Amino acid sequence: MSKRTVLTGITTTGTPHLGNYVGAIKPAIESSRRDDVRACYFLADYHALIKCREPEVVHRSTLEIAATWMALGLDTDTAVFYRQSDIPEITELTWLLTCVTAKGLMNRAHAYKAAVQDNVEKGEDADFGIAMGLFSYPILMAADILMFNAHDVPVGRDQVQHLEMARDIGQRFNHHFGEHFVMPEAVVDDSVATLPGQDGRKMSKSYDNTIPLWLPEKKLRKAIMRIVTNSLEPGEPKQTEGSALFSIYSAFASAAQREEMAQAYADGIAWGDAKQKCFELINSELAPARESYEALIAEPAKVEAALQAGAERARAFTVPFMQQLRAAVGIRPLA
Ligand code: TRP
Repeated sequence: MSKRTVLTGITTTGTPHLGNYVGAIKPAIESSRRDDVRACYFLADYHALIKCREPEVVHRSTLEIAATWMALGLDTDTAVFYRQSDIPEITELTWLLTCVTAKGLMNRAHAYKAAVQDNVEKGEDADFGIAMGLFSYPILMAADILMFNAHDVPVGRDQVQHLEMARDIGQRFNHHFGEHFVMPEAVVDDSVATLPGQDGRKMSKSYDNTIPLWLPEKKLRKAIMRIVTNSLEPGEPKQTEGSALFSIYSAFASAAQREEMAQAYADGIAWGDAKQKCFELINSELAPARESYEALIAEPAKVEAALQAGAERARAFTVPFMQQLRAAVGIRPLA
């Protein structure tokens, strides 16, 4: 059976939250279990350096994110799970791709354009504070993807442009040097609802409304109690539409549980009771994994060993492929 390669990267600059879990981690782990899928999941630590200059944050986040995926049941013997920086071929490929990438293409990247726009509005020089890392970011990302001949790349909407750029760059390379790369596609899953945060806006670090995934039980309960509701009293019917609490509950509920909660809303459940139910549901899903997570955090050597094993399996593919690519551009032994 020919497998489809599904590849995605997680930038190591933060602590995973419920939104990451529902929107990315859980579906990715599920698809890694399909036997028609070759799952390549990696910690994008070189990407982290673009936005973060705090070594301890990058280091700690790498451990937390790796431990999270492992604790949630990613089988690191089936999936290829690695750290970007352990695969030197990725950065090597980045240079080959940089040499065929039009500067004009990079000028059009949303993240770069937003930074320029911001400077202009503030009356600064257009390129003030913009590092080449930010400018070239899409090329590194293209290398991540093309290096593994990925077919499907599950990402958020904000990353779709980067996938278009990866295709553009890959196509140019193929055009000059022969058909080496598969053209990847972005997979944006609209059925996975974006989880609202405590204030009702999309759960995101930039809104400061996240609920960290691995809060201890008491703190998780407190965080759920802080989800915004309205002033309707117990006994008064409540709307599920537009209720952040209902959306968060639904993301963890079965269809039957969701219906039951909708009925409870209509019957006028007290907000405190609905929140308690929400806490219990989420906690029951996370509690077993939380223990594994804490055990892994306490034993970073285990996580490191899994990543090293993953890197070895990844490199079984990337080393010979890189050799082929170098040869294609004319870098090969003289005799
Ligand atoms: N840029 C992605 C993000 O911010 C992370 C990432 C890096 C990535 N390399 C990737 C995602 C390759 C998919 C494929 O979310």
